[in-house]
Amino acid sequence: MGSNVDAANMEETRSALREKNPKIVFVLGGPGSGKGTQCASIVEHFGYTHLSAGELLRAEAQSGSEDAPMIKNMMSEGTIVPSEVTIKLLAKAIMKNENDKFLIDGFPRNEENQVAFESITGIEPEFVLFFDCSEEEMEKRILTRNQGRLDDNIDTIRKRFKVFVESSLSVINYYNSKGKVKKIDASKPVEEVFEAVKAVFAPVDDKSG
Ligand code: ADP
Ligand code: C5P
Ligand code: MG
Repeated sequence: MGSNVDAANMEETRSALREKNPKIVFVLGGPGSGKGTQCASIVEHFGYTHLSAGELLRAEAQSGSEDAPMIKNMMSEGTIVPSEVTIKLLAKAIMKNENDKFLIDGFPRNEENQVAFESITGIEPEFVLFFDCSEEEMEKRILTRNQGRLDDNIDTIRKRFKVFVESSLSVINYYNSKGKVKKIDASKPVEEVFEAVKAVFAPVDDKSG
């Protein structure tokens, strides 16, 4: 019964999303590469709305919903939650926001995420922003992040790096083969990284212009 209602709701969300047809930029890169940090600046300068798949999943894990225990377990292992769950959260967040341009950070994380998103929403990203950073630097950053995240411990960090190499890099390669990847050297200081980011967005749409 519950799942029928869910399926009906999802169908409604799906057709609303297809009708809205928002502009999407995927923001990818390893854990700790600076996706969230740079997205905050992109929002300020270019008028996008930032949606972090990880943050949406963390909120859902705290919500007491049916999916919460599964999400919590998977996040504590650094594994990738089934697309159905994540896409539902992203779709809802897009539909309840009036903006028509979104940065989707940390998604798609594997081939399943990528294929499911395109087949459910019919939306192709405008481009993919890829923050390239060494594991050594990312590890340092995560260990000093201090946001109280349970998955920011050395064991889970190593697992997340492994998942990134084994599952997420192929998504970046896929979009690269379609000429859609804008690669940024993310190992530099925050301000320098943002200069490179600005050069990618400015010709596309600078809200000050
Ligand atoms: P992600 O969202 O990719 O996991 P965050 O944006 O949360 O990464 O950044 C991880 C940590 O590194 C945060 O504590 C952030 O303040 C810091 N950080 C982000 N970008 C840089 C940078 N270019 N140089 C040094 N530290 C950074
Ligand atoms: O992007 P972030 O580091 O916040 O993601 C935290 C965790 O959320 C990931 O390690 C993973 O367990 C989960 N996640 C997911 N699917 C995504 C994005 C994040 O399962 N597309
Ligand atoms: Mg983040």
